Amino acid sequence: MSAETRITELRTEGEAAVAAAQNTAALEEVRVQFLGRRAELPNLLRGVAELPPERRGAVGKAANEARRALEALIEARAGQLAISERNARLEQDRVDITLPADPLPAAGRLHLITQTRREIEDVFIGLGFNVAEGPEVETVHYNFDALNHDPLHPARAWTDTFYLTPDVLLRTHTSPMQIRAMERQPPPLYIIVPGRVYRRDSDVTHTPQFHQIEGLAVDEGITLADLKGTLLAFARAIFGSEREVRLRPHFFPFTEPSVEVDVSCFNCSGGLTASAERCGICKGTGWLEILGSGMVDPNVLLQVAGGGYDPEVVQGFAFGMGIERIAMLKHGVSDLRLFYDNDLRFLEQFP
Ligand code: DAH
Repeated sequence: MSAETRITELRTEGEAAVAAAQNTAALEEVRVQFLGRRAELPNLLRGVAELPPERRGAVGKAANEARRALEALIEARAGQLAISERNARLEQDRVDITLPADPLPAAGRLHLITQTRREIEDVFIGLGFNVAEGPEVETVHYNFDALNHDPLHPARAWTDTFYLTPDVLLRTHTSPMQIRAMERQPPPLYIIVPGRVYRRDSDVTHTPQFHQIEGLAVDEGITLADLKGTLLAFARAIFGSEREVRLRPHFFPFTEPSVEVDVSCFNCSGGLTASAERCGICKGTGWLEILGSGMVDPNVLLQVAGGGYDPEVVQGFAFGMGIERIAMLKHGVSDLRLFYDNDLRFLEQFP
């Protein structure tokens, strides 16, 4: 076979190999195979000098042309492959910025006390009440005097209550906000007052700080029936639509008459569970005490500075409940202190 024929063959083979190379690495192998130091074509070129002089021109020309042609072809193909490979990389790196962040960062959750407070607020907002808040540092006047407490009422004792000065204390209940709210606006008034309260108490069922929600409705013609209907709606919203409420006579300084309110147990009927055992939640009584309440004492209305609340014109009812107590009853929490231990095993049970 003549050298020219072999050169033509190599050129054709090289062209086919370049066309077949599907990526930069494969093309590099083709370059080495056909133009590398030990490849046949460059070898032929180097051998030209040893040919008879009349053959050198033709063979050298053919080999040079073939080499340049293959070089040019490889360069062009390398350019194409580089572009398509970059495009493929870009396509792979494509980021859909409209997708939500993934994974979502772990979010916290609301404490059971906050959840319960909001749930109770929602019920009363639905009944037409507004949410008001008052100061936790309170005066003896608003905390006791204006709420008709006897000068010797035991809650006034420094052993029961945190005093800052003889006239200033940490409020022992949310009730002082009754007076403040009435002094702020004329009747009709429908408010609930969530907030922290403080007492010098600490055991399984008492913590020195806890939460209450106060309620106050003052308007013309308010009766005990309004109180009972409101609390029945509340009890059913929180504990289930089958519930009943009952009022038991009691005493509070700022309401007359005063009642304690029970809701029928949601765990049993009449104190016996489905398997005829004594119910552990209501201790077999069939009733759960949920709050204190009553008709606003006329003496309290008379304490409202400005005299805008004439007991001959308006009447009211009030109630006060412990948020922890409602949460404990509803969720079967056995120890009040769990609310304040910040133990995730407890907190995570209430998503
Ligand atoms: N303030 C009372 C307490 O802390 C709860 C209470 C009872 C509030 C009767 C009221 C009420 O508004 O009418 O024990």
